[in-house]
Amino acid sequence: MRILVTGGAGFIGANFVHLLVREQPEVDVVVLDKLTYAGDRASLAPVAERVELVVGDVADAALVDSLVARSDAVVHFAAESHNDNSLADPSPFVQTNLVGTFTILEAVRRHGVRLHHVSTDEVYGDLELDDPAKFTPTTPYDPSSPYSASKAGSDLLVRAWVRSFGIEATISNCSNNYGPYQHVEKFIPRQITGLIDGVRPKLYGTGENVRDWIHVEDHNRAVLDILERGRSGRTYLIGADGETSNLEVVRTLLEIMGRDPDDFEHVPDRPGHDLRYAIDASLLREELGWRPRFTSFRDGLADTVEWYRANEAWWRPHKAATEARYAELGR
Ligand code: NAD
Ligand code: DAU
Repeated sequence: MRILVTGGAGFIGANFVHLLVREQPEVDVVVLDKLTYAGDRASLAPVAERVELVVGDVADAALVDSLVARSDAVVHFAAESHNDNSLADPSPFVQTNLVGTFTILEAVRRHGVRLHHVSTDEVYGDLELDDPAKFTPTTPYDPSSPYSASKAGSDLLVRAWVRSFGIEATISNCSNNYGPYQHVEKFIPRQITGLIDGVRPKLYGTGENVRDWIHVEDHNRAVLDILERGRSGRTYLIGADGETSNLEVVRTLLEIMGRDPDDFEHVPDRPGHDLRYAIDASLLREELGWRPRFTSFRDGLADTVEWYRANEAWWRPHKAATEARYAELGR
């Protein structure tokens, strides 16, 4: 069994590769990753001897065709993933998330290879703070940002290729992940690494926005379950009932790191900032028996703080450039 993992040098993809190598040693793992600013060879260093890393673009049709031809399954993580970047320059989001996914789809169609497409809950837009509803697989698509619109488009391409060409594919839409190897541009690692450097956490707007946090390992175990036992053509929502406001996240991090819980600052809000995400994962739980293992968000955050403390050599090279980009945006 050989699995092609696109975007396997990024945050979630690298954690997925680590999980595969640890728990399914009989599987051959090939990673296709362009090593953009968000990809890091060092994230695969602990498993380097077990993984073939091909540096290349998911939109390179000839390369993708040759890799898919020798694979039994493709797990497609590769994407431009950061909303703030998509507001500054949407172009790579359209190219990688739409053209890249189209390129993967054509290759799996030609070679009859099973695909799992990794997507986001942001395709559904956002919810009011007091809305009892959560996102379900039938919630209408209503993306807000160039990032989420490009992911929504990629999901619709996958659905069309299943229906029109009969490819074997599943889709998952997951909520916000946290854990090791997450780029320092993202909310939680940005604040942890800032605090290590003595910088106060930065909250966009009021901080009342809610995200439905899930540990990256719980996300990846769900992806494995879907890959092994999911029904082709189905969309599975992945979430672990982790709704927390950004303000609460910052206060918890400050408490874990031994600081005053009010020692943060408000910065200008993200344009079009989604208010709240919430996932109903009952299909995943009932059909595939998936359960999250990280049931305490505070404990998971404390582990994550420890990981960033212990792995400064991994994140330090990315920190200054990331903060320079935020300084240009005024955030
Ligand atoms: P990331 O930005 O950390 O990693 C993306 C990886 O893709 C990087 O290694 C990058 O080098 C690679 N890549 C980018 N463009 C490429 C291209 N053209 N060709 C080949 N490789 C390319 O992202 P992430 O947070 O790990 O997200 C992975 C996937 O999961 C994405 O599809 C994202 O939409 C989805 N997702 C993320 C979250 C989250 O909370 N981070 C939640 C739900 C879904
Ligand atoms: O919901 C899934 C999505 O989660 C994924 O599809 C995306 O790839 C991933 O980046 C994430 O999107 P968000 O925009 O929710 O994540 P981000 O880490 O950028 O921000 C999380 C929240 O924190 C959001 O409400 C904005 C806020 N924020 C972010 C930063 C970087 C701050 O308040 N301060 C900050 O410094």
